[in-house]
Amino acid sequence: MDMIDPFGRTISYLRVSVTDRCDFRCTYCMAEDMAFLPKKDLLSLEELDRLCSTFIEKGVRKLRLTGGEPLVRKNIMHLVRQLSRHLKSGALDELTLTTNGSQLARFAGELADAGVKRINVSIDTLDPEKFRTITRWGNLPKVLEGIEAAQQAGLQVKLNAVALKGFNEAEIPDLMRWAHGRGMDLTVIETMPMGEIDADRTDQYLPISVLRAQLERQFTLADIPYKTGGPARYVSVRETGGRLGLITPMTHNFCESCNRVRLTCTGTLYMCLGQDDAADLRGPLRASESNELVSRAIDEAIGRKPKGHDFIIDRRTSRPAVSRHMSVTGG
Ligand code: GTP
Ligand code: 5AD
Ligand code: SF4
Repeated sequence: MDMIDPFGRTISYLRVSVTDRCDFRCTYCMAEDMAFLPKKDLLSLEELDRLCSTFIEKGVRKLRLTGGEPLVRKNIMHLVRQLSRHLKSGALDELTLTTNGSQLARFAGELADAGVKRINVSIDTLDPEKFRTITRWGNLPKVLEGIEAAQQAGLQVKLNAVALKGFNEAEIPDLMRWAHGRGMDLTVIETMPMGEIDADRTDQYLPISVLRAQLERQFTLADIPYKTGGPARYVSVRETGGRLGLITPMTHNFCESCNRVRLTCTGTLYMCLGQDDAADLRGPLRASESNELVSRAIDEAIGRKPKGHDFIIDRRTSRPAVSRHMSVTGG
């Protein structure tokens, strides 16, 4: 019954990009003038629910809504409330989301009411000017207000920071102290070569191994077995008493333990973040009222899940590993 791929990996984690749109334009994620999908191509919230529910029937235990920015999708709370029935029935262990925080002040309470326990918020710097530079359109005070509201509502918050050479490299210690001082984990992420952006990725790329060595001059880091089902490996930080997650797609490949696939807002299933191969689920979804065709299409897709990504960032490689932007799948 479980979904098992050709490499024996059980697929129990579905990431669902509910919109490709976003109210920010982070330089490592998007080009400034992005072409977004026409609204008519989107699956309805009911269709997204049907697809998610089929995945849950097939063994998915963790579901994460992503974007773009998930909270800019119209009526998103309706979908969250619908999906939360699977938490109540015990079919789903976790319903969560990854957000840029811009709309959190508005939605935090409703998310907590719907049974969301934990959310991830992207924040690369605590300097408002730099925040504006990296997100192009973002407003730091608004995001901080959102984080505050989430904590007030009882949500556990994990912060994500993309490690960027010469940009937030020197600030990570402060960001970490700030997060840990407020009871939040922080995860640092290596930038991945997805989609044409305006910036040069070679200039931005900071290996986490380098960052870790820098942090170890000030902090005592110890590897710990803590796991969330995501790709991060965690260390404890003695001086702060907090946890730091390391996501290292470039320097340490974690593909052998991959447990996830990604669904987009048009019903396309990507079996790997770092590969182009995808399966259309919208066709089989709309072809029949029963979920049998979709279920079969999912099995076929999982049956060709690739071994892993081929990400490279160096001066000789000018093209990104995959042409779609991170915002298509939400990471
Ligand atoms: P947790 O449940 O808190 O562990 O979340 P997560 O780390 O799985 O999700 P999040 O949305 O916070 O993603 C953090 C970063 O991990 C993003 O940059 C994602 O692109 C990246 N990421 C998540 N899954 C994968 C994966 O399968 N492969 C690669 N290369 N990166 C991934
Ligand atoms: N490489 C690594 N992480 C990225 N994110 C967006 N674009 C990239 C990229 N090119 C991160 C965001 C967010 C998460 C979903 O993915 O900062 O935290
Ligand atoms: Fe939007 Fe997230 Fe991409 Fe930034 S990283 S542009 S917040 S989708």
